[in-house]
Order: sequence, then structure tokens, then C-alpha cells
Amino acid sequence: MTQNKIHIWLRAETKLNEQRTALPPQTAQTLINAGFEVTVESSKNRAFDDAEYQKVGCKNASFGSWRQAPKEAFILGLKELPEEETPLTHRHIYFAHAYKEQSGWQEVLARFVKGDGTLYDLEFLTDETGRRVAAFGHWAGFAGCATALDVWAYRQIHGSEEQFPKMTPFSKQEQLIFHLKDRLESAEKKFGRKPRVLIIGSKGRCGKGAMEVIEKVGLQATGWDLAETEKGGPFEEILDFDIFVNCVYLKDGTPPFLTHDLTASIVRNLQVICDVSCDPNSPHNPLPIYNRITTFDEPTLRIVNGNNPLDLIAIDHLPSLLPRESSEDFAEQLLPHLLDLKTGSSVWKRAEDLFIEKIKTIGLSKKGSSSEETQPLEHS
Ligand SMILES: NC(=O)c1ccc[n+]([C@@H]2O[C@H](COP(=O)([O-])OP(=O)(O)OC[C@H]3O[C@@H](n4cnc5c(N)ncnc54)[C@H](O)[C@@H]3O)[C@@H](O)[C@H]2O)c1
Repeated sequence: MTQNKIHIWLRAETKLNEQRTALPPQTAQTLINAGFEVTVESSKNRAFDDAEYQKVGCKNASFGSWRQAPKEAFILGLKELPEEETPLTHRHIYFAHAYKEQSGWQEVLARFVKGDGTLYDLEFLTDETGRRVAAFGHWAGFAGCATALDVWAYRQIHGSEEQFPKMTPFSKQEQLIFHLKDRLESAEKKFGRKPRVLIIGSKGRCGKGAMEVIEKVGLQATGWDLAETEKGGPFEEILDFDIFVNCVYLKDGTPPFLTHDLTASIVRNLQVICDVSCDPNSPHNPLPIYNRITTFDEPTLRIVNGNNPLDLIAIDHLPSLLPRESSEDFAEQLLPHLLDLKTGSSVWKRAEDLFIEKIKTIGLSKKGSSSEETQPLEHS
């Protein structure tokens, strides 16, 4: 069937505990008002009920039915597709985690080639300066700093031997702030002063989010960015702070901020680190003091034992702590580009070119087109 409308098909996320979405109801409504057709798969996990989508005019589809969606539909999601071998015949917009040669990347790309589908990877939707057009960074920093404050406060109240409990998402930012203020107040009574907080990468997306939560709970933080670290690490000064939140974007030449030798030092205030950047296996990791991520179920890793232990948080999906706000913010950034799907703007063209370049690296090319030619985005 020939379609005149752009059809966005929001698939249900299958990753365990993922409550976020790339398309909250309000954004879906804007698309519908702009003449799009929006179909939303049922999901029990998503932070927004199926009914909220139906109320704004979205069509409902069953969980996982994107496989049978009309060929012209753009399949929108956030996290990885279920691991299968079936060819992918649609245009998919999501975070595929396949372009940095992550595990299984070749299999994922080969599925697209087999089905003549296309991947528009959300991580690589960039403007002409190379800056990402939509990212969760702000909420990662916000949630990461909030968690670090929570862990520190919990330790003052319950003692360092008590394991910090499993985390569950907050349905509203105000609830999280209320919870934190309450815990920090009790912690301050025991500890005798407010915590001293350092945020590195404070001028970036995550860093600004971290700074925002500090302000919202009535604290102050020291912010470092490139200028403060250009002399090269490691930095003994970090040990004077009670809490350290790392928000830098890792790249070649990032100096180590802390080392095993430094953290083993007994003269240290530092009790809690949140590594928002969270890339323990990267050769550029400025925190080469741990080697595995942590989870909502077990948020902390004890990296130094003894009388003055040091705890580290390294959760790679921090924005899930506030699934509604983080989804709404992400979708707001993505919306102008979704609206541009009608015209196939340069953002989408770059993403498509990158897909073609990546499949070439595994010796494949898109069916029905020479490797230089791309399929046009616009619908008939
Ligand atoms: N854990 C999670 O859930 C999660 C979610 C989203 C993003 N992230 C990660 O957070 C990191 C930051 O993302 P972002 O969007 O905020 O990036 P960004 O580019 O907006 O900001 C990075 C900031 O770090 C600063 N910086 C870079 N190198 C530095 C150095 N050596 N010393 C001091 N400052 C330095 C930059 O100047 C910039 O201000 C990325 O690695 C990203 O993958 C993690």
C-alpha cells in the first residue's frame, strides 16, 4: 500500500527494567498533529501507559509486532533489538551499539544487509559540527550525582558496613529531590557538616545535570573541566572531597584522575565516586581503579576495603532512575529531526552514510544500490 504519511512505529523495549522510551505521548501527539501516523506497541514496563498514547491518537499494536509493520514504517526504539538471526527489513532508529565494534556488532549489521533494512543509530545522529542532536547525558549526570549523594548519606546514617540497597526508578524528579534532602539532612547531623563534592567534566551535558541536582538539594560543588586537568593527573586534590562525580567524555590523551596507589592512601576524605562516564574497559578510562560496571540491583562496588572504604558507582543506564523526565527531554531534542524525516535532512543523510560505511567494513553493501548510492529517505 502506498502511504502518504510518514509512519513511526514505536516498538516496546525488551531490555530488562528499561522504562524509558524514545517517544513519550506528548511528542507522539506533536507528530500526529504534523500529519504523521504513529503506532505504539503495548508495554507493561514503559513509564507511560498504553492509554496515554491512545488518548493522543496513537494506534495500538501488540508487543513485538514491529516485525510485521508495513515496510515503509520507521521502527523507533531505544535499546538493542532482541538477538535473533532474522533479516531486518525496515528502517530502524535506535541505539544499536554496533559501530564501536561492540560484541555481536557484525551480526547486527549483517541482519540489516540481509533484509535490505537501514540503521539510523541514535548515538550517531549529529549536526554539521559533529555534535549529537539528542542525548540522555543531562539526566545521566543528574541521576549519577543524585545516587552518589544518596550512597554517601546512607553511609553516614547506617555505617559503611551496611550495603546500599537496590535502586528503583522515581516517577518524578521532585520525589527524588525530597528523598535526597531528607537523607542528606540526617547524614549531616551524624557527619557534622555537608559533603564536599567535586564534578569533573562540569561544563558538559552530564556535568551540568550533576551541577543541577547539587543546586536542587541546596549544596555546592566544585566543578572542573579541561582547564583544571590540563596539567595531567593523577590528582591528589580529589581525595580532599567526600564525593567525586566523573562526567568527562573520554578521548585519547585523557589523563588518569586517580590510581590504585592514590586511592589506597589512608589520608583521604573521599568515600564515594560515581563514574557517570562509565567505560571501565576503555584504554582512555581516567579511573583505572575498577573493571566492571554496577547495576540498579547492586549499585556500589567497594574498591578499597578497611576502616575508610571507598565505594564506586558505575551504572551505564543512569537516566533510567528518572524514566519520564529523561524520556521527555530526549524526545524533545529528537523531535525536530523526526519532523524532518519528511524531507530527509542532512542529519538523517549523515546517519545513513555512516551505516553504509560501517557495513562496508564487514565486506557488505546495501542491496539494490552501489556502495556510493543511498536509498532516499522520503516516502512515496
Ligand atoms: N552512565 C550513563 O548512564 C551515561 C549516560 C549518558 C552518557 N554517558 C557518558 O557520559 C560521558 C559524558 O557525556 P556528555 O554528553 O556529558 O559529554 P559532553 O561532551 O557534553 O561533556 C563532556 C565534558 O567533559 C569535559 N572533558 C573532556 N575531557 C576532559 C578532561 N580530560 N578533563 C576535564 N574535563 C574534560 C569536556 O570539556 C566537556 O565539558 C560520555 O562518556 C557518555 O558516554 C553515560
